[in-house]
Amino acid sequence: MAAGSELVSLLLLLSIANLCNGGITSRYTRKLEASVDMPAEAFPPPGGYNAPEQVHITQGDRDGRGVIISWVTPLSPKPNVVRYWAADCDEKHADESQARITTYKYYNYTSGFIHHATIKNLKYGTKYFYELGSDNVTRRFFFTTPPMVGPDVPYTFGIIGDLGQTYDSNQTFEHYYSNLKGQTVLFVGDLSYADNHPFHDNRKWDTWGRFVEKSTAYQPWIWTAGNHEMDFAPEIGEKTPFKPFTRRYHVPYRSAQSTCPLWYSIKRASAYIIVLSSYSAYGTYTPQYEWLLKEFTKVNREETPWLIVMVHSPWYNSYEYHYMEGESMRVMFESWFVQNKVDLVLSGHVHAYERSERVSNVRYNITNRLSTPIRDINAPIYLTVGDGGNIEGLANRYTEPQPSYSAYREASFGHAMLEIKNRTHAYYTWHRNQDAEPVAADSLWIYNRHWYPEDESSQ
Ligand SMILES: [Fe+2]
Repeated sequence: MAAGSELVSLLLLLSIANLCNGGITSRYTRKLEASVDMPAEAFPPPGGYNAPEQVHITQGDRDGRGVIISWVTPLSPKPNVVRYWAADCDEKHADESQARITTYKYYNYTSGFIHHATIKNLKYGTKYFYELGSDNVTRRFFFTTPPMVGPDVPYTFGIIGDLGQTYDSNQTFEHYYSNLKGQTVLFVGDLSYADNHPFHDNRKWDTWGRFVEKSTAYQPWIWTAGNHEMDFAPEIGEKTPFKPFTRRYHVPYRSAQSTCPLWYSIKRASAYIIVLSSYSAYGTYTPQYEWLLKEFTKVNREETPWLIVMVHSPWYNSYEYHYMEGESMRVMFESWFVQNKVDLVLSGHVHAYERSERVSNVRYNITNRLSTPIRDINAPIYLTVGDGGNIEGLANRYTEPQPSYSAYREASFGHAMLEIKNRTHAYYTWHRNQDAEPVAADSLWIYNRHWYPEDESSQ
């Protein structure tokens, strides 16, 4: 009898220990419905002959005084100019910039005229208007340049991933759009999901460009390539990976001494942002490897305290979906991230939300069996924000029990916000679509790894 009660106590203890192993698996239950693409009619082109459409901007230089303005004209390459002026100046003194034009064919699709104009040497922290088109099809937009790069510059980033163009995508997008704090979006890959349609129907790239225009025309979106950007389809003669994505979305990779637009870096306000490509070679001596190796030597935490990496495929993921897919890249680069005290690693790919503890798994050397991640205050927090709401639906199966590296996970669509306050503190929130925008289902004060390397973990 006594032995029996001891056994019960032992089992109870073990089950408590097991429960304490991981973090929180949210039991919030969302209504499961198929994610269906919105029809093309939901994204009509703007009226007027050859009207500029699919307008989007991104950072156009190293530190935020440049902007790349991109748009599509469906019928004619002209006009091919952007007029822009500071909002506090007279429009009569507008400057003009010519765009580079590209077009591409994909299977039986021919793109419109894709324009990319890079304007540089703008004033920091200044609102600018810009105009595209001419006469009765002129369209006017505006953006605000970031403050000068500096260690205590507050700045707020939205984080969105795997968006697609379904009714769920629209909910995520509108939810972010209604949050007036967001100044720039860090987009962690998988944009249009055109490749989920027959022959990678590239009209879906056009509808996606129209879908997001009301944000992308007014604030920069920083692009990361995901697997749905590859569009590699030799069975229909399409053998150039990333063709539609790289034609449509330009990034300032040359100013980051990168040889390829799929990996690059920028400085913005108090953040140094490194974008990597999960779907390009990254083994020893590859261009991406060599570039990243030099990249860490360029980061000056006195200037940009916040070191953020964006990569599509997560390194720490406890869902059944895409489990361990990021493992080889983690093995290649994790020790660099820990040595260089990366603050945050943002990823998508898994269609759900997860936040990790600060953990590392760099001790493992094949023979020593030390293959379990351990708490490490020099390690980044890994955020998976692949919950934009695309056509493939929700990742709703967890690995069990929740591993100790996983602090919070929830199978819901949503987006995240990162409010950098100064060199030591940033306030991070995650917003599920079913709540009102101010509600944060997950939140954390994040401490900077260089300036305030305290443990801020939730357990
Ligand atoms: Fe993906």
